Amino acid sequence: MSKAPIRFDGRTAIVTGAGSGLGREYALELARRGARIVVNDLGGSGAGDGTSTAPADAVVAEIQSSGGTAIANYDSVATRDGGERIVRAAVEAFGGVDILISNAGILRNGRFDELTDAQIDAVFSVHLKGAFYVGQPAFKVMKQKRYGRILFTASSSGLFGHPWQANYAAAKAGLAGLSNVVALEGADFNITSNALLPAAWTRLADEIDWGWRAECAQVDDAFAKMTPPSDPARLSPRSVAPLALFLVSEQCRATHGLYSAAHGRYARVFIGATQGWVSAEPSKVTVEDIAAHWERVEERASFTEPLSVYHEVLDTEQARRQQHPAESKARD
Ligand SMILES: NC(=O)c1ccc[n+]([C@@H]2O[C@H](COP(=O)([O-])OP(=O)(O)OC[C@H]3O[C@@H](n4cnc5c(N)ncnc54)[C@H](O)[C@@H]3O)[C@@H](O)[C@H]2O)c1
Repeated sequence: MSKAPIRFDGRTAIVTGAGSGLGREYALELARRGARIVVNDLGGSGAGDGTSTAPADAVVAEIQSSGGTAIANYDSVATRDGGERIVRAAVEAFGGVDILISNAGILRNGRFDELTDAQIDAVFSVHLKGAFYVGQPAFKVMKQKRYGRILFTASSSGLFGHPWQANYAAAKAGLAGLSNVVALEGADFNITSNALLPAAWTRLADEIDWGWRAECAQVDDAFAKMTPPSDPARLSPRSVAPLALFLVSEQCRATHGLYSAAHGRYARVFIGATQGWVSAEPSKVTVEDIAAHWERVEERASFTEPLSVYHEVLDTEQARRQQHPAESKARD
């Protein structure tokens, strides 16, 4: 494999929530590699309370002191106006936007049956609506220039599950769906879209309510068996940044993907469909038929990863041909 340096000279990147944690690391490393950066950060607490210009200013100062180019932006991603202003800042200062890392985030944990509207709305607004509010204007600019690299920040909480994070998990899983559609709509404009599932020890860890451990035995068992990482670098934002940067580089052609960077492992995460059981007469299928074919429904030895709704139909037709060769022959 080529180890040619991956550079971002001449590229403009917006990193939301770049005042601390993962976003800060992405912004610093992109700048080191030549990109011009819009360092966006609202500067509130991990739960999303308050505002401050200090975190974004500090990252801009750090970039500039090493000879890089960056401007600060303090708008909230959680409003349409804020999203527009973030993208306008990039266009006015640097003439466009080539890269968007949608990363800003907050946490508000609670039991599923006790989550309040305030907890649900705040988390959806920052993570899910924020990705639309910054993503839509950025996508418009990218379409005009026929170039773009978009990275949404999903989470293993959303794709795999984490107790007491139903609001956060739903928003993060929603981002996987959003990224899939942006990837399809961006394909003809040379715009890629992927979603990252990072893991890093940041201040968001302070927002986790560990009360779930007493109530969710199965997950607590896994938690208890985890080997504490002997090397803190395995959970540092530094360890996540290389995959994030590769995904927004010109060299990376991958799109429509989910990728995990956690504890030193870099992996593709995917959603597949088993070959399943294909009925010869779907209009006559009964509940008992489903029960009788349950093993086949669940059997994961053979699966596909459909690229769209219509690719899933093609996969189904393929499965039908395999399971009902006589019927398929008669039709052909
Ligand atoms: N740390 C992890 O293990 C982990 C795991 C999965 C996903 N994530 C996701 O990674 C992203 C970064 O999180 P982090 O761990 O670096 O946390 P962090 O708290 O260090 O960084 C998040 C940043 O987003 C900013 N922010 C929050 N609301 C904002 C808003 N409305 N507008 C603009 N900026 C806003 C905050 O001020 C903060 O600087 C988040 O989306 C988070 O959900 C993190």
